[in-house]
Amino acid sequence: MGSDLYTPGHTLNASDFMARRSLQSHGNFFVPYLTPGVSVLDCGCGPGTITLGIASSVQPGQVVGVDFGASEIEHATARATTEAVGNVTFRVADCYALPFESDSFDRIFSHALLEHLSDPVRALKGFYRTLKPGGVIGICSPDWGGFMLSPRLRWNSRARSRRTQAFSLRTEAM
Ligand SMILES: C[S@@+](CC[C@H](N)C(=O)[O-])C[C@H]1O[C@@H](n2cnc3c(N)ncnc32)[C@H](O)[C@@H]1O
Repeated sequence: MGSDLYTPGHTLNASDFMARRSLQSHGNFFVPYLTPGVSVLDCGCGPGTITLGIASSVQPGQVVGVDFGASEIEHATARATTEAVGNVTFRVADCYALPFESDSFDRIFSHALLEHLSDPVRALKGFYRTLKPGGVIGICSPDWGGFMLSPRLRWNSRARSRRTQAFSLRTEAM
């Protein structure tokens, strides 16, 4: 499913990396819009840890997480069961073809998805179609202007110092 190649893939390693995220750590900007009772769609929800935070915030509002990775949806569903979060469902879906009626959700959230899409505007049009009038869409997407690696290893210190040099060259040229 999905027309784009998702380069990080859906290995357990990649999924566990995403699963360290929470609403507080990665979606705090959207918290003011997550009032009790609103319905929320999380597009590209991955392992669902941020989605579960959203669900706790909007209870008894209903939350749906969608992702085209079937294994991500399995992990997210298992997490919701373990943590006994009852107002969330996860389903496999392509964000370019959201399987929902128009005007379905009060809020639409998406974290770290758009940078993986070849046509993010097409996806955004779909988000807007499923948003209820007066609703709010919250998107967070990095521009990859920088990326820090840890722990401190010889090869990544070298990469870091090259990055610093590249940065000073750029700022000197300005
Ligand atoms: C970097 S992960 C972010 C996961 C989660 N939002 C988070 O921040 O922890 C991006 C997710 O988007 C999903 N994805 C990529 N392209 C997609 C598409 N066309 N439709 C639905 N999901 C997609 C991937 O499967 C992956 O789980």
